[in-house]
Amino acid sequence: MIDFKKRLCKKLSENIPQLTEEEILVMIEIPPDTKMGDFAFPCFRLAKIFRNAPNAIANSIAENLDKGDFIDKIEIAGGYLNFFINKEYLVKAVLGEVLLKKEMFGGSLIGNGKNVVVEFSSPNIAKPFHIGHIRSTVIGNSLYKIYKFLGYNTIAINHLGDYGTQFGKLIVAFKNWGDEEEIRANPITTLLDLYVRFHREAETKPELEEESRQWFKKLENGDEEAIGLWKWFREVSLDEFNRVYNMLDITFDSFTGESFYSDKMPAVIDMMQNKGIMKKSEGADIVDLEPFGMPSALIRKGDGSTLYITRDLAAAIYRKETYDFYKNIYVVGSQQILHFQQLKKILHLMGLEWEKDCVHVPFGMVSLEDGTMSTREGRVVFLEDVLNKAVEKTKDIINEKNPNLENLEKIAKQVGIGAVIFEELSNNRTKDYTFTWDKILNFEGETGPYVQYTHARASSVLRKAETGIDKVFKSELLTDDITLEVLKGIQQFPEIVEDAQRKNEPSIITRHIVDVAQAFNRFYHEHSILVEDEELKKARLAVVFAVKQVLNTGLGLLGIQAPERM
Ligand code: ARG
Repeated sequence: MIDFKKRLCKKLSENIPQLTEEEILVMIEIPPDTKMGDFAFPCFRLAKIFRNAPNAIANSIAENLDKGDFIDKIEIAGGYLNFFINKEYLVKAVLGEVLLKKEMFGGSLIGNGKNVVVEFSSPNIAKPFHIGHIRSTVIGNSLYKIYKFLGYNTIAINHLGDYGTQFGKLIVAFKNWGDEEEIRANPITTLLDLYVRFHREAETKPELEEESRQWFKKLENGDEEAIGLWKWFREVSLDEFNRVYNMLDITFDSFTGESFYSDKMPAVIDMMQNKGIMKKSEGADIVDLEPFGMPSALIRKGDGSTLYITRDLAAAIYRKETYDFYKNIYVVGSQQILHFQQLKKILHLMGLEWEKDCVHVPFGMVSLEDGTMSTREGRVVFLEDVLNKAVEKTKDIINEKNPNLENLEKIAKQVGIGAVIFEELSNNRTKDYTFTWDKILNFEGETGPYVQYTHARASSVLRKAETGIDKVFKSELLTDDITLEVLKGIQQFPEIVEDAQRKNEPSIITRHIVDVAQAFNRFYHEHSILVEDEELKKARLAVVFAVKQVLNTGLGLLGIQAPERM
């Protein structure tokens, strides 16, 4: 058990029965300077309970606390208890665990028997897969991997935007101005042009809007021509999307998009009617959400056609029935916060208590330097272009720095695409950001290529060592500050993964593996590893092995590959 924080928490709670273990756990701090110990516990909050000064309380806790095998010493300063972990114990415990668990280090079984649906990416058919979709795609994919690593049975769903009034518009545009050959050659750009043109022409010819409503209605009613066109648009779009998913190495368990629910909505609408939560408003069916401080939700238009939220209601119910989920996670931009609040409220009004397990994981918006992206105005950056450019740039760099590298193509893909994903997962997901080519193609500093390079460096040392890793080594050889810094980063890794899951925040892992890589690079520069002294070499190789493992696992959880050489 290398979770010293939890162990310390247990010991403290034996001495402070007035606080729960959870309360104590969040109070334990990591001091800014290791000279002040590895963990600190503030006693200010206890002053009221014990009616005594914080320092005096700290003293009495320290006197009674059994240090066990892992605490070396306890110091008291400024109302804090400062704990110093026994160094050799730490070395042995951390490396012992990594050497034993290897690629399972940091994983757990806490999710066993629980189904977690992660819905992510969900682009819209006939529209570009643009830089705005990358966020849902890579955050979702990472969360999928993190939950899986913690033992959850995870289901990746792509809720394709393959239905709705825009298909009416597209059909009208195609019938007026479309060219089949052109669409085959360049599906998305041509369909996008048609969509843009529809909106331009509709400004002066409002009758087009009415025509498009009728075509969507036909689609919903199973009209052969409408369905044929829609199917074709869907197919050619999916081909393009799949090209990007292949580049990103992302797969889904299910592509049940919006159209999948077209025949499941009547039953849902019946359910709502039976619960008496729908009412008529200007010929349409709505759920009044004003009493809950939200705008009412339009469920069915006067002409009988359904809406985005109607399909989401059907989808949530279908997922509960199909997967009996423990959590149903939606990785969707923050523009849709209100939509998911409405969705959950309606499910609640329908008496479906599992609504509380539906979790919207929002993320900030991506804008371009010259303003927001606009599909209608054709102002978009295609994700595929970004990935291709990143790969090209990586090739140039490798050709310059390491021209004899084998498998150039493959490694350039791993590094270039890894760089884009890493950059996306570097900041808190809720932050908005402006896309710039410079930033996404920056490979210097705390980037994906830096972590990958560090991983390749550790791999190279292990290759050169030519000896296997020995589980028995002298831990007293690894207690210097520089080495301990590396080991502490490794020790925290399991907790970091859990934290990332709890907060649905992959950037916690991104930042942590940068720290581990930096600590390792200091270690690498200060200490020779392949030294004459067999004992020292053995001990240091164990550290290298552990670092390689953590970087490999960490990158994997972000959806990034870790090449052995680069
Ligand atoms: N297709 C939508 C878009 O691009 C995202 C779908 C989100 N998922 C959902 N269940 N509503 O904006």
